[in-house]
Amino acid sequence: MSNVIRFGVSIDSKLLDEFDNHIKEEGYETRSKAISDLIESNLRGKSTKLDGMSSGAIIYIYDHSHRDIVSRLIDIQHDYHDIIISMQHVHIDHDNCLEIVTVNGKSVDIDKLYNRLKTLKNIKRINIILT
Ligand code: NI
Repeated sequence: MSNVIRFGVSIDSKLLDEFDNHIKEEGYETRSKAISDLIESNLRGKSTKLDGMSSGAIIYIYDHSHRDIVSRLIDIQHDYHDIIISMQHVHIDHDNCLEIVTVNGKSVDIDKLYNRLKTLKNIKRINIILT
């Protein structure tokens, strides 16, 4: 790091507590290092997505009892059938389902699929891992 600057960030205190516990478990000694790594990996992720092809997985959790969510998910998955390699569905408890969608294809299409899923109402948590 050639030029280090300090800056202030406003953040929900509960979220920050959760973040601090998480980075402590991961072994970080300072919050600055953890935040730098987070920003770096986020930026790196974006630049790989721009140049061509990617493979990876989109993982999300939703409550299947919400109206329409299952059929909306199936519609989206069919719209992107050319980049979805496989899909695993796990009933994690009475209400919640976890799905792992394995993708391979144009980065720009994977990004579009991720955004469609991310913005879908009633998706509780979502993550993407691209290699
Ligand atoms: Ni289920």
